[in-house]
Amino acid sequence: MNDQSLMEKIVSLCKRRGFVFPGSEIYGGLAGTFDYGPLGVVLKENIENLWLRMFRDDRDDMYGVDAAILMNAKVWEASGHVAGFSDPLVECGKCKKRFRADQLDSKEACPECKGALGDVRQFNMMFKTHAGATEDDSAVVYLRPETAGGIFTNFKNVVDAIHPKLPFGIAQIGKAFRNEIAPRDFVFRSREFSQMEVEYFVKPADWERAFEEWRTRMHLFAKEIGLPQNTVHEFEVPDGDRAHYSKRTIDFQFDFPSKCDELWGLAYRTDFDLSAHAVASGNELSYLDEETKEKFIPHVIEPSLGVDRTILAVLTSAYKEDTMGDETRTYLALSPKIAPVKAMVSPLLKNKPELVEKAREVRAALKKIHPAIAWDDNGNIGKRYRRQDEIGTPFCITVDFDTLGETPNLKDTVTLRHRDSGEQERLTVAEVASRIRAAIE
Ligand code: GAP
Repeated sequence: MNDQSLMEKIVSLCKRRGFVFPGSEIYGGLAGTFDYGPLGVVLKENIENLWLRMFRDDRDDMYGVDAAILMNAKVWEASGHVAGFSDPLVECGKCKKRFRADQLDSKEACPECKGALGDVRQFNMMFKTHAGATEDDSAVVYLRPETAGGIFTNFKNVVDAIHPKLPFGIAQIGKAFRNEIAPRDFVFRSREFSQMEVEYFVKPADWERAFEEWRTRMHLFAKEIGLPQNTVHEFEVPDGDRAHYSKRTIDFQFDFPSKCDELWGLAYRTDFDLSAHAVASGNELSYLDEETKEKFIPHVIEPSLGVDRTILAVLTSAYKEDTMGDETRTYLALSPKIAPVKAMVSPLLKNKPELVEKAREVRAALKKIHPAIAWDDNGNIGKRYRRQDEIGTPFCITVDFDTLGETPNLKDTVTLRHRDSGEQERLTVAEVASRIRAAIE
């Protein structure tokens, strides 16, 4: 399977099975926007919940915020985004199409019509709107281009409310918006996306230790969501290529279908943001160390993870095809921890009330382990398995006549089918329950 066809297959599966749809589709779409469907919503929630557990809740030094998307324009002036959050733009004099200059092979000729390209100019990527009924410059607000802004502006609120001891961090999941010149590769580069970000505040001398700690945690998260170790690569971003606020950045790159590209970032933002906001807002954003009585502006380590790129990475590594004879089976080898459906229960025949009743009983028992236990009695059993394989359901459970006691020593046992191998085993319902529990915990 070449990389182009892998991407096409993922996009098609996402639409067909209700993971991700093109945004505003019935009106011809809106470039760079996507809507998550029934299964995509759950996959996204599972990834976000795992991140919340590993980056916030498992630690005693982490707190959460959920800040507004619309923020005072001064936030983005102070952070440097109004002046510098831009990409180089060129326009073709002939067809009028616009391109990102840094992504073109030739700076002279239009890649579409070969017309002459104009001068490169900087294009600010923030979406601008107006708050309230006036539309003059005083009412300008921006949709946040990174969730980090709402963390820095709440640093003082969290310190005053919780009195955390340094080092501590603030975590947030939320939408970010960038008016990308060239959205591309499905949800890889879109104009509206979600981020999972931590700003971890440390004493200036402790930044390297904290950087290493979060670096390890990011690799652990990659493992937990099922990304094979050999598909995630670290890239030390050199001087001159880093964001204006960063003194050190490691990009976590992933082998996406189109190319190996940035999945997540880990940055040492120094005291750039708190210092800039302190000066611009006139508020004291320093931290008083109660023991040493030392007052200083903390430095910041920022693990920043895009949710949508994580989903694309997960789908890329999970997408599998098995060919046996002239039949090809497609399945998603998703980690049971993030699979939207954990198991499917099915009666062997749907027109046998005694089988249906027993299967309903089994499903009710398994739902006590996890609510995402599906029911499917449509078509033959092979078709049901294929449908579940395609959405990444790790286990299928079938209730048959042996479950009812046709073979006495098999009474109350069911078949448990494993998604990746297709192998089946005969187990009691209690055994099945503990298999599911072990796989998702
Ligand atoms: N607060 C730091 C920050 O925003 P970034 O490298 O610009 O840093 C962080 O973005 C992460 O957000 C990226 O590693 C990526 O996962 C995700 N991301 C950035 N731009 C994106 C876009 N246009 N579409 C989808 N995800 C994006």
